[in-house]
Amino acid sequence: MRRKAEAGPPANGTMEFSKDKKIIFSGVQPSGNLTIGNYLGAIKNFGLFQETYNCLYCVVDMHAITVRQDPAELRRRTYETLALYMASGLDPEKNVLFVQSHVPAHAQLGWVLDCFTMFGELSRMTQFKDKSAKNAQNINAGLFTYPSLMAADILLYQVDLVPVGIDQMQHIELTRDIANRFNQIYSDTFKVPEAYIPKTGMKINSLADPTKKMSKSDENQNACVYLLDDRDTIIRKFKRAVTDSDTVVKSAPEKDGINNLMTIYSCFTGKTFEEIEREFDGRGYGDFKLAVGEACADALSPLQTEFHRLMNDKAYLETVMKNGSDYASYLANKTLSKVYRKVGFIAK
Ligand code: TRP
Repeated sequence: MRRKAEAGPPANGTMEFSKDKKIIFSGVQPSGNLTIGNYLGAIKNFGLFQETYNCLYCVVDMHAITVRQDPAELRRRTYETLALYMASGLDPEKNVLFVQSHVPAHAQLGWVLDCFTMFGELSRMTQFKDKSAKNAQNINAGLFTYPSLMAADILLYQVDLVPVGIDQMQHIELTRDIANRFNQIYSDTFKVPEAYIPKTGMKINSLADPTKKMSKSDENQNACVYLLDDRDTIIRKFKRAVTDSDTVVKSAPEKDGINNLMTIYSCFTGKTFEEIEREFDGRGYGDFKLAVGEACADALSPLQTEFHRLMNDKAYLETVMKNGSDYASYLANKTLSKVYRKVGFIAK
């Protein structure tokens, strides 16, 4: 019998996962301009893990085409998302940063998992229902099976933790169900991952309607602050933020607008709600909104400078992508070949 030797890690990279660290995976779609919601809820926290975990962060361009994209825009946003990861403090020497379509194993495992995901399960996904309502003229099969591709993203890497916003919880639950189902039929193959939902800032709401999540696809430009907005725009948007008819800067359950602004201010300054209430004691909403705008602009300024520097160095970004996908492919193919063998495909 012929047995193929397992390929070793790629020779070009400096990356090597340590055996005794847990594995983290997360993905961000390169669709729409990233907002402070994406930043505070996800990307900013990613940097906290890089010393203590083995981390993979993926730009999920294959998920992005489940809604129609302009090709040139998609390419630009893919570079931008990677540049934003790095400008937010993710060191490409310590994290595996890569683009989903560069690692064919995602599509390959995605197909296999499609065959282990039930029509009924996919029909219950709230993101599918929301997106089909928004794109009634393009409810394609990819939009429907989006969660099994997401399961493939995660399960390929034997991931322990998946940092995501609360809106992705249902997809992570489904990923766990798929993993357990496969493991039960074929013996242990996949690690069953857990969601990791950061405590503060996991959900930043719209400035125009603070009962809804801040969404990069919102048509109202005043609803979200983009990571690349300039200082004046940021301050103007916060000045216009919808609040309530009270005047005291104090958190209360029904004060969605103020709660949201306090969360944003707290994330950027590290101050607690009590500290914020004391700081603005005797001052009105106007002062507070200006302070939130300034804190946000100050915090984003160095990130923006680094982002523009990286975007002017495409060759470097391409090197990062290439090294990232080489290492990711090496890890992913180990899982994929196990899966192929277990389901009964003949080894090449
Ligand atoms: N569905 C996620 C979102 O819309 C993006 C995503 C795709 C993802 N694959 C993933 C997140 C794997 C975490 C892990 O935000």
